[in-house]
Amino acid sequence: MAGKERMLITGGNPLEGEVQVSGGKNTAVAVIPASLLCDEPCVIENLPDIEDVRALVDILRELGAKVDYEPGTLRVDPRSAEGDTVSYRNAQRLRASYYLLGALLGRCGRANVPTPGGCDIGSRPVDQHLKGMRAIGADAEERRGILRASSACLTGGDVFFDMVTVGATVNVMLAAAKAKGTTVIYNAAKEPHIVDLANFLNSMGARVKGAGTDIIRIRGVQNLHGTTYAVIPDQIETGTLMIAAAATCGDVMIHGCIPTHMEALSAKLLEMGVLVTDNDDAIRVRGALPKRAIHIKTQVYPGFPTDLQQPMSALLTTVKGTSIVQETIFEQRFRHLDEIRRMGAQVRVVDRTAIIDGVTELYGAPLTATDLRAGAALIIAGLMARGITEIYEPGYIDRGYEHIEDKLRSLGAVISRDWAE
Ligand code: EPZ
Repeated sequence: MAGKERMLITGGNPLEGEVQVSGGKNTAVAVIPASLLCDEPCVIENLPDIEDVRALVDILRELGAKVDYEPGTLRVDPRSAEGDTVSYRNAQRLRASYYLLGALLGRCGRANVPTPGGCDIGSRPVDQHLKGMRAIGADAEERRGILRASSACLTGGDVFFDMVTVGATVNVMLAAAKAKGTTVIYNAAKEPHIVDLANFLNSMGARVKGAGTDIIRIRGVQNLHGTTYAVIPDQIETGTLMIAAAATCGDVMIHGCIPTHMEALSAKLLEMGVLVTDNDDAIRVRGALPKRAIHIKTQVYPGFPTDLQQPMSALLTTVKGTSIVQETIFEQRFRHLDEIRRMGAQVRVVDRTAIIDGVTELYGAPLTATDLRAGAALIIAGLMARGITEIYEPGYIDRGYEHIEDKLRSLGAVISRDWAE
């Protein structure tokens, strides 16, 4: 009988030492589809070797692009890509497969993309994506589980999003890069990966201005030339490692990160009594001092990232006092707390607010990851707990963290993976 894969953690060791972060998942999954807009071969570097990247490599191949991928570096020659349809099997492997809607529309005026997979953290509608495609002259609809968009001639237009949405901002940037005329996105997302995508597009000759602010202006161009581009480091992996250092009362230096992307988390850790210092490309986190309970409210960038809410709320389960965590972005992003309750955590969830009464100790237990950042939260809890924690469905974690066990083991964690009968 085939066993079940599990991660095993023996908690209690403070993490100590130095670690290098990988390239960013959420930038990589936007930049890779953007390579289809290019009229020449291009090279993308500093990619994390994670399942989401490998899924997009397979999608580029199934569309007919010539792709050479080795961990870290992708060489794409999109000139042979004739396809306009992504397979259901590949689309389901990740959330970001829906970026092929904007990329294919921008490349060939047609796109058929099955509704994506990705983390079950809420309903995750795509109405703003379709609104954005229509605003630049495309017919766009979701019909029988397929996102379809087509246009004989994309023309720049104004898009005013009803809420800040990373995904729809990315999709419109992709579709508008080669449209006729100028597209203005109002209420745009400002995450670091939005800026990175703009920089990638501009390195190919696109005319994207204002990325990182509420208003992005995209002046369509006819051609995009080849480029070699390295994506930025992963903001959420950096944050997860910072939280792990704090949670284990350790002392960790995180290299190759961008401290200015981490301001919201650094501020909250400092408020708790964790020592955080940084220089231009490294952050040091020391967590040995007693920690204070805090209030977290997730916000769009530059606020506290929703993707770090889950690891942070795991840490707060052992901080003395009552912490409050409000999740304002997604409607179902506390399922990891049901698991951590099995370790002795005292947590109540009311609507989108978690009330966490810190306990002195968690106890190792068998747990199941329900999504990518929930998996990261269970790792944090396991690193803190007395005894052994088993985490089933670690495949969720592999979608967004490159070699996470190796990184944590190099810092002194007792962590491994096996197959349980
Ligand atoms: C991206 O998801 C990230 N994924 C998520 O990271 C991240 O949590 C999220 O942005 C917020 O930062 C990738 O970049 C691949 P949104 P996305 O569109 O684009 C609503 C991870 O762990 N909305 O900014 O799906 C939506 O329901 C993942 O790496 C609509 O209502 O997020 C949500 O409430 C998890 N209609 C809010 O907007 C739409 O058409 C923000 O969603 C689109 C979004």
